[in-house]
Amino acid sequence: MKRVCIVGAGNWGSAASMIIARNMKRYDHFENTVNMWVYEEMIDGRKLTEIINTEHRNVKYLPDHELPENVVAVPELLDAVCDCNVLVFVLPHQFLHRTCKTLKGRLPPDTIAISLIKGIDFNEEGVVLMTDMIKNELDIDVSVLSGANIANEIAAGKFCESTIGYADEENATTFYEMFNEKNFRISIVNDIESVQVFGAIKNVIALGAGFCDALEMGNNTKAALIRIGLLEIQRFARKYFGPINDAAMLESCGLADLITTCLGGRNRRCAEAFGRADGKRSWEELEAEMLNGQKLQGTSTCLEVMKILKRDNAVGDFPFMELIHNVAYEGAPISTIVDFPDEHAPA
Ligand SMILES: NC(=O)c1ccc[n+]([C@@H]2O[C@H](COP(=O)([O-])OP(=O)(O)OC[C@H]3O[C@@H](n4cnc5c(N)ncnc54)[C@H](O)[C@@H]3O)[C@@H](O)[C@H]2O)c1
Repeated sequence: MKRVCIVGAGNWGSAASMIIARNMKRYDHFENTVNMWVYEEMIDGRKLTEIINTEHRNVKYLPDHELPENVVAVPELLDAVCDCNVLVFVLPHQFLHRTCKTLKGRLPPDTIAISLIKGIDFNEEGVVLMTDMIKNELDIDVSVLSGANIANEIAAGKFCESTIGYADEENATTFYEMFNEKNFRISIVNDIESVQVFGAIKNVIALGAGFCDALEMGNNTKAALIRIGLLEIQRFARKYFGPINDAAMLESCGLADLITTCLGGRNRRCAEAFGRADGKRSWEELEAEMLNGQKLQGTSTCLEVMKILKRDNAVGDFPFMELIHNVAYEGAPISTIVDFPDEHAPA
């Protein structure tokens, strides 16, 4: 019997809980109840977990949708994962390491996990994937799910697709059953690395798309920046993970996710506001004002990407990411976002 715990209860964790909870009822080999670890917060004098368990609504992170009654909010992480052997990690990536440390040595030996987190980390050796971070701490098999998936649209039941990247095929089947639905179509690829690199770096490209919107440059420019961005993400994945599987680029986790992030999405939105304020408002201020407790990811990823590219003397191979970094962090005028060097064809 498999018993699922969702580790994280933000916008996407809450929307994902709706899909998972519905699918738990379709299969006998899953327990009906889905635990959801909620980082406790007080909302108008009440605990968020209490509100979720009585009103079946995450009033802070997914206020417009009811959660199924078999989703149970648990405030203590170790209580939430107790007796669960399938973990779904879905929290902003800056909290993952600490969360894994708390779980270390406390999980049943047959535990498997899937990460819905979009983000990557960096250490002295290079790029650290979220799946590596989980695996290194907890020594369990970890898959990844990523796609053109804006949580509010999924919660509203609008059709979309997503991609599961796996290492262990049997576990991929479990995750397919947990997530695949009529309006949430899953494809699976045997490629953990590129699925995650696309999911993380697209947030940097989305900043460029936001700057483009601030300048009201129009659709041709936006399309060109998406295309150039796609190639730079692919180049980044190849540089740090070798000859990766190009197929993932055309799955939902690749091009489709980049498009949706550059059209909607919080990174694009905040970057547009940053651009309209001519860089005079800080990212921290915009995040606090516009995101209601949600986290921007593109900005920290942008800084980390540039750090590693500088270390490896490779900035010149990523002209768009350099332009984005210069506008976001070096005070370069927003209009320079399309100042691609003549000698470097963007492709
Ligand atoms: N929201 C989306 O549409 C979407 C879609 C696909 C993927 N993702 C990815 O899913 C992941 C989670 O994003 P989200 O949108 O669900 O989160 P969110 O930004 O909506 O919510 C923030 C979450 O962080 C929690 N939190 C705050 N402080 C914490 C702490 N100290 N320790 C642990 N948790 C803390 C909050 O309780 C809340 O659950 C991210 O990697 C994101 O990129 C999001």
